[in-house]
Amino acid sequence: MKNTKDTMKVTLHPDWDEIEPLRLQAHDFFGSHGLSGNTIQSLVMVLGELLENSVKYGSYKVLNGQINISINITKKIITIEVTNPIDDSNLDDLKRLDQMIQWVRGYQDPFEAYIERLKEVAKKPLHDKESGLGIVRVAYEGDVILDFFVSEDNLLTVSAVLTR
Ligand SMILES: Nc1ncnc2c1ncn2[C@@H]1O[C@H](COP(=O)(O)OP(=O)(O)O)[C@@H](O)[C@H]1O
Ligand SMILES: [Mg+2]
Repeated sequence: MKNTKDTMKVTLHPDWDEIEPLRLQAHDFFGSHGLSGNTIQSLVMVLGELLENSVKYGSYKVLNGQINISINITKKIITIEVTNPIDDSNLDDLKRLDQMIQWVRGYQDPFEAYIERLKEVAKKPLHDKESGLGIVRVAYEGDVILDFFVSEDNLLTVSAVLTR
């Protein structure tokens, strides 16, 4: 764990129980930078969604598989990055993630994308655990630009950038 004034870096085990304490820590970190209550709330929501995805979809068979979080605040932008290991079994996930992010970008108003997605999800059977709503909600409610990349050592990083 390394914290400077404008950067918060934390490593988590992929447990659901770890998410809430981290949300609180991030809340305090954003608060110490004088962000408005609304901004803090939506950034914490964004972080929570990305963390849930990491816990849910990451591949942790490798010993010491972990989730890394990095939050950086500058005058102009706030960046949240969440990194988790993936493996061959995640190919479909990466496709979905890519499709979802591209799809949101295709809308001028992310809210429109969200409504469209809600309609799609409403048509799906109830047992479908993958709603695909998280990413869309993050884009519109969090007002962030999403992106992702995969490193050579099979680490997926999803980033959310808010322009202040
Ligand atoms: N950290 C991640 N690692 C691997 N795949 C991911 C990750 N985050 C998202 N995905 C993929 O992108 C899809 C869309 O994510 P999301 O919109 O949050 O939907 P949901 O969490 O309801 O499945 C997921 O269903 C999953 O296939
Ligand atoms: Mg999700």
